[in-house]
Amino acid sequence: MASERLQKVMAEAGVASRRKSETLITAGNVTVNGKQIKTLGTKVDNDDHIEVNGIPLQREKLVYLLFYKPRGVISSVKDEKKRKTVMSYFPDVQQRIYPVGRLDYDTSGILLMTNDGQLANKLTHPKYKFEKTYVAKVEGIPTNDQMEKLRHGVRIDKKVTAPAKTKVISTDLNKKTAVVEITIHEGRNHQVKKMFDKISHPVIKLKREKYGFLTLDGLQSGEWRSLKLNEVTRLLKR
Ligand code: URA
Repeated sequence: MASERLQKVMAEAGVASRRKSETLITAGNVTVNGKQIKTLGTKVDNDDHIEVNGIPLQREKLVYLLFYKPRGVISSVKDEKKRKTVMSYFPDVQQRIYPVGRLDYDTSGILLMTNDGQLANKLTHPKYKFEKTYVAKVEGIPTNDQMEKLRHGVRIDKKVTAPAKTKVISTDLNKKTAVVEITIHEGRNHQVKKMFDKISHPVIKLKREKYGFLTLDGLQSGEWRSLKLNEVTRLLKR
């Protein structure tokens, strides 16, 4: 089961800074499920009971939000260039949520927001092979051979991509563009754009339509909803 370092969990719960939390641990002030823990780096799970100086740690209620990110928004908590971030869509959410993974500034689509670090780690860890489906409008009309290349894997940043599922949805012979669906389970930087660059059909527009079994159904750009309990359970079960 995925887990997080005790000092990180303490810092996130607002006990003290991470450094100070480390001192509290080594000084013997912290117990996990009734047992004193003095070793730094000890991992704890969401359901572990932590006490600091005998006081139970109040962990934030875990929240899981499914957001339809618009184009022109940064998917991080802060931006040094002061551009609009995804956080501006959640002014009333009290918990310290953050995006699970990233979507480019000019990419729209499904983005999970949570304060559950364990789930976020799991969903972004390559070993879980979590599938994401994108719809890309690309320059030119890819041939079957080129689509086959994407399916097999192309070399980007010195590493071949894992097999992908692809299909051409439509083509516009006048404008010389195509709309293509691609499903990948890796999450490398600008991966989809780089894959299409590699076959010489640069992406004009990109949208993430599916995140595993989750879709954007019922949401408009800029809207979000809480995940249902069964959806969270399904994600956690992976
Ligand atoms: N691939 C990209 O190139 N950009 C994204 O935003 C997501 C996947």
